[in-house]
Amino acid sequence: MTLNKLERTLSIIKPDATRRNLVGSVVRMLEEADLSVIAQKRLHLSEGQARDFYAVHAERPFYASLVDFMTSGAVVVQVLEGEDAIARNREVMGATNPSEAKADTIRARHGISLEQNSVHGSDSASTAASEIAFFFSEVEIFPNPIQ
Ligand code: CMP
Repeated sequence: MTLNKLERTLSIIKPDATRRNLVGSVVRMLEEADLSVIAQKRLHLSEGQARDFYAVHAERPFYASLVDFMTSGAVVVQVLEGEDAIARNREVMGATNPSEAKADTIRARHGISLEQNSVHGSDSASTAASEIAFFFSEVEIFPNPIQ
């Protein structure tokens, strides 16, 4: 039997979902996919923080609107841990555009539009490491950082 690798990934529950009281529903779907929330906090991002977090998209036409949206209300940022957590989280989130997301994914169930798509998840191991470090210090992550 092969054991898949234990990974951590960053998840954000976006303002469209926090505004509609969907935090519990989103977390339940993640937990039912065997992802464990090992660190979590609710924040209101500043414009600078949102710009920095999404800096990779700075040249894209949707950047300004994305920053506006991500600062329009509370977000819940969380570290998920589990086997193949990065791919597993992306699977349970569904496609970026909710209209293209498979049934029973978070974005199909809760997403409103390409921008208001309820959740963000890291897309690779290196992105996960930098996105987790963007929001969490080592002492906030239980029990110990993965080496
Ligand atoms: P997310 O996974 O948070 O990463 C960047 C976000 O930009 C993406 O989800 C979408 O919500 C948002 N976005 C808005 N317009 C686009 C677009 N045309 N292509 C990709 N992402 C977009």
